[in-house]
Amino acid sequence: MIITIDGPAGAGKSTAAKLVARRLGFEFLDTGAMYRAVTVAALRAGIDLQDQGALAKLVESLRIELPGDRVLLNGEDVSVEIRAPQITAASASIAGSPAVRQRLVEWQRRIAAGRDMVCEGRDQGTVVFPQAECKFFLSADPKERARRRLRELKARGDNTTFQEVLEAQEARDARDAARDIAPMVPAADAIVLDTTDLTLDDVVARMVQEVWRRQGKSGEQASHS
Ligand code: DC
Repeated sequence: MIITIDGPAGAGKSTAAKLVARRLGFEFLDTGAMYRAVTVAALRAGIDLQDQGALAKLVESLRIELPGDRVLLNGEDVSVEIRAPQITAASASIAGSPAVRQRLVEWQRRIAAGRDMVCEGRDQGTVVFPQAECKFFLSADPKERARRRLRELKARGDNTTFQEVLEAQEARDARDAARDIAPMVPAADAIVLDTTDLTLDDVVARMVQEVWRRQGKSGEQASHS
């Protein structure tokens, strides 16, 4: 069974997706980490991020693996590097590359084939897994999303300001939503959850209940399965 969770940065997707996967005994696929790993490789190679030919060649040469919580690029652990602000900023260009998207979509389908997986990103319910059994789109007020992101950055010792986070987020959202290829929009059959006033526990509980409902299980049955 495939569960997709899409939505903008800071809507709480990653944390919620991991917890939902754990509660259900599913695996978790962080597709943003794959775009970020390609971004690291492109910046290291000094490639012009608009050069589609160069990006196509680059992505063919890469090996990206996601064991547990780690991200390996050609065997090297880049889990920390992919979260750096300059990678976050440049990832929107990489995510707009048709060549990169085509290859990553193929990899994502291959990874998930025949498995129970929670797949998180921007296009999982619309493009990658249109047949997914259960689709969610998480949203939240932009200021609340920026506050959450700032908390994360501060915990990592980064001293970016709220205004900087908000502006970078608005720029990235606008690019993700407006791009021609796989824009960030909810699938027609996605359940849209506004997480602004919900706790993480609430969000996870609602998603898990919905999955159980679709699996034909009541909460009582599911807790014993
Ligand atoms: O979710 P994230 O911040 O780690 O995503 C990094 C970038 O990749 C961001 O610009 C959105 C983009 N992305 C995408 O276009 N499609 C996905 N399935 C996942 C992420």
